[in-house]
Amino acid sequence: MKILVINGPNLNFLGIREKDVYGDGTYNELLDLINYTAKRLGCEVDIYQSNHEGRIIDRLQRAYDDGTDAIVINPGAYTHYSYAIHDALKSLEEIPKIEVHLSDISKREDFRKISVTAPACNHQIMGLGPDGYVRAMEMLVGIDIKI
Ligand code: DQA
Repeated sequence: MKILVINGPNLNFLGIREKDVYGDGTYNELLDLINYTAKRLGCEVDIYQSNHEGRIIDRLQRAYDDGTDAIVINPGAYTHYSYAIHDALKSLEEIPKIEVHLSDISKREDFRKISVTAPACNHQIMGLGPDGYVRAMEMLVGIDIKI
């Protein structure tokens, strides 16, 4: 099984940005955790990070025919307004998708309470910090559903 993990804008700044919200852990530590989890679950993982909406869409479109079986995506702030990423996710009908947020976006500023991308995913996990990625990968390995 091949899982694609996509991280959107500013997630590469983990450990630098708003530590009170996102914690001290660095982006490299998150990558280590994802890679370790993939090994533990016996799956392949490809991790992609971009600060650019179009590049995230290009990577999602490649998933259509590059053998990706499942997607974990944290679209960062694009979560709240990118209908283009919503549409790209929606195109991948056959691929199970889980949206992850480190913080609990339901308890933050009003603009963060809305996710326009979650309706294009099968499930959303928030507020668990880096463990949210672990939980998402575990769910996807066990999942047997199509949209
Ligand atoms: C985030 C929440 C978003 O509102 C924010 O813009 C981020 C990170 C999270 O993981 O909690 O960049 O997606």
